[in-house]
Amino acid sequence: MNGKTIYIIGDGGHAKVLKDCCELYKVEAKFISLKESSNPNINESDFLKLADENEVNVILGIGSTNLNSNRDKIIEKYSNHKNIRFTTLVHPTAIISRDVVIGNGSYIGAGAILCPNSKVGNHCIINTGAIIEHDSIIKNYTHVACGSVCLGASTVGENSLIGANATILQACSFPGQSVLGAGSVLTKTQTEEGLYVGSPAKKKF
Ligand SMILES: CC(C)(COP(=O)(O)OP(=O)(O)OC[C@H]1O[C@@H](n2cnc3c(N)ncnc32)[C@H](O)[C@@H]1OP(=O)(O)O)[C@@H](O)C(=O)NCCC(=O)NCCS
Repeated sequence: MNGKTIYIIGDGGHAKVLKDCCELYKVEAKFISLKESSNPNINESDFLKLADENEVNVILGIGSTNLNSNRDKIIEKYSNHKNIRFTTLVHPTAIISRDVVIGNGSYIGAGAILCPNSKVGNHCIINTGAIIEHDSIIKNYTHVACGSVCLGASTVGENSLIGANATILQACSFPGQSVLGAGSVLTKTQTEEGLYVGSPAKKKF
């Protein structure tokens, strides 16, 4: 981080978590609100005017809770802007092995653990206490929620949600644009997009 203000897209729960993390590093954080009714530090149109004149650091502060997450669409809109730089935030209590790769704009939460040779794509959330075991790959925009475990050599596709306390067994793959319900256990590779719940996880729709 270069000490400049970090602008957080959104002002809901995940945005507050990011702001807290910035403040631990003594970096100022401001919310950009996408909704008229909320109480942002700066509204989106004023932010975009600011970005026309200045280089700005940005991170996506909107999580995903269900299918049809639009985290990728929000980033698409911002990433065409010449002055926008995406910031990666790693909570000071996260444990990251030395050879881990973390993409632009991702957040690694408090107490999260990233084991050797794991890779986290761009604009991902590895939330509080989640564990990404060795050789695993988490693709762009995916949210691995609090307390989830992706065991060794597992893969999660783009823009998916791995619900809180879910487990992906070793070497299993989970598709993109999909949800694994809270507490569910993925015991074998799935390739069809959709919502999977239970233990063993089955496709609900
Ligand atoms: C899976 C999930 C997205 C489904 O939400 P939804 O689309 O609103 O679906 P519903 O609550 O209507 O449930 C649909 C069915 O799936 C079942 N179901 C939902 N979540 C389940 C879960 N986690 N484990 C097992 N079954 C589950 C419901 O019992 C229901 O079954 P039924 O059709 O037999 O009655 C949601 O329950 C979930 O687990 N979200 C993850 C939240 C999370 O971890 N957020 C992270 C924030 S940091």
